[in-house]
Parts: sequence; C-alpha cells; structure tokens
Amino acid sequence: MVSIDVWNASVDFPIFEAKSRSLKKLVLGKVGGKIATETKIPIIEALHDISISLKEGDRVGLVGHNGAGKSTLLRLLSGIYEPTRGSSRIVGKVAPVFDLGVGMDPEISGFENIIIRGLFLGMSRKQMEQRVDDIAEFTELGDYLSMPLRTYSTGMRVRLALGVVTSIDPEILLLDEGIGAVDAAFLNKARDRLVDLVKRSGLLVFASHSDEFLMELCNSAIWMDEGKVKMHGSLREVLTAYKGKDPYENLSPEMLERLGEAPAFAGNGGGDNG
Ligand SMILES: Nc1ncnc2c1ncn2[C@@H]1O[C@H](COP(=O)(O)OP(=O)(O)OP(=O)(O)O)[C@@H](O)[C@H]1O
Ligand SMILES: [Mg+2]
Repeated sequence: MVSIDVWNASVDFPIFEAKSRSLKKLVLGKVGGKIATETKIPIIEALHDISISLKEGDRVGLVGHNGAGKSTLLRLLSGIYEPTRGSSRIVGKVAPVFDLGVGMDPEISGFENIIIRGLFLGMSRKQMEQRVDDIAEFTELGDYLSMPLRTYSTGMRVRLALGVVTSIDPEILLLDEGIGAVDAAFLNKARDRLVDLVKRSGLLVFASHSDEFLMELCNSAIWMDEGKVKMHGSLREVLTAYKGKDPYENLSPEMLERLGEAPAFAGNGGGDNG
C-alpha cells in the first residue's frame, strides 16, 4: 500500500542575495509565499505547518494562486525537498512529473530519450523497450524519432515527453500542470492517455489551474494559500470555495460525458462530485 504523510512540515528558502531593506519598502502583494524580513537574510516561507495524510486510491488536486506553494508541496511530497521543520514519510515509488523535459538529453535521438526518460520515472529498460512502439505511434513524430532531440520544436518535445509519461505505471504520481504547450487536437489525444495513467496509478497529486483537468483526474482537493492548507475536502467543495461558484453547474454535455469516464467517478471515492 502506498501512502504519504506529512506532519507540521514547513519549507523555507533563505534568499542570500536579496537586501531586506529594499524588500521592506515593497507593497504587500497578494501573490506568492510570505517573505519574512525581520531576519538578517530574507526568508521565503514557501510552506508553513503543513499536515497531510494521503493513501492508496487518493486523487488529489492542488489549487491556489500563483506562488501559493503548490509546486513546493509537490516537491516535499516527492521527497525532493526535506522539510525545514516537521517531518514526512513517503511509502511507495514516486514518479515526479514537474517539468516534462527533465531527464531528456538533446544530443541523443527521440527513441533513446524515450528509454532514458522512462528509467528516470522508475521503469526498467525492458519495460520501456516493450512500450517504445506504442509511444512512437502516439507521438506521430515518425522519422524524427531517429533524429537528436535538439532538432525538435517545443511542441514536438512535449509530444515525446507526454508519450513517455503516459506510458508508465506509477505507484505515486505527482503531476505539476505544464501540459498545455501542445495543439488542442493532440491534447485531446493525450487526455485519454492521462485518464488511463491516473487509473493505473496508486496515488495522484495534481497541481493545476484548469478546472476541467482537475474534474477529470481528481476527486478531492487541497487549496493552498500563502504556503498553508486553507481547505482539504472533496474537489467540488474546494473548487466551489476557491472560485466562489460551483464549477459543476453548467457543464457542457460533452464534458459531462467525459466525466462519466473519469477515474474520479469510477469506483469509490467519488464523493458528491456526481
Ligand atoms: N527555489 C526557490 N527559491 C526561493 N523561493 C522559492 C523557490 N521555489 C519557490 N519559492 C517561493 O515559494 C513560494 C511558493 O512557490 P510555488 O512555486 O510552490 O508556488 P505555486 O503555487 O506552484 O505557484 P504557480 O501557480 O505559479 O505555479 C513562492 O513565494 C515562491 O516565490
Ligand atoms: Mg507551480
């Protein structure tokens, strides 16, 4: 069984090169974590006193303003960041998908990058070799897959990266949005694979600004605000509180149909999202 537990965890970033005098003069902004300036070195309090307990089968969306702490929380949940204070325990193998391009080598071919990126996400070489044809077909990159990655356009790289990411079997899948840089038709194709990926994964945490993606992939949500958990509940409750209106009202028939297929609605744990 996979699980993630975090107890009273905080993550601070001391900023050595900033001058606290000039910072003090700034007008208080709404966006971003709190900056403590009473210390000699300014400290960004990216996460403050977080306690979360996640278990197998959870599909959690992370919402909140820019700089609220979503990406930092994902890094804490992945074990990439240690809490400055407090503690955390992660049981299970984590596939962190924060930046689609991480683990890619510009000098080697698309085919080789498929294998390398799969290894980075916790798959074995043999598993990736079995999946390479399927991934190649999905990307529609054809002969480009034999060319070095540096010859690819941005969208072509995203196709390759999405093909690999959606082919893995993750125990704990941590997704940080950034999956929008492809054309709409391709995104629709990737959407089905993403839904399947989430169905296969043991535990999902997904930071996103897209209600539609959240509704498709998640059933519960955490609202982050200034580095703190402002609310943790069903996706519908949290989105309604965060947005000030119920996003499940006035859904298009097409979206309703898609949600019928969504992992959040299949099996248990759908809550009151239906
Ligand atoms: N490496 C870092 N060094 C210093 N400060 C950081 C670092 N990473 C994040 N922060 C700060 O931590 C806070 C939370 O940032 P984070 O990236 O987690 O926000 P986010 O909720 O993911 O925002 P967005 O919606 O824009 O992606 C911000 O105030 C940011 O300035
Ligand atoms: Mg972020």
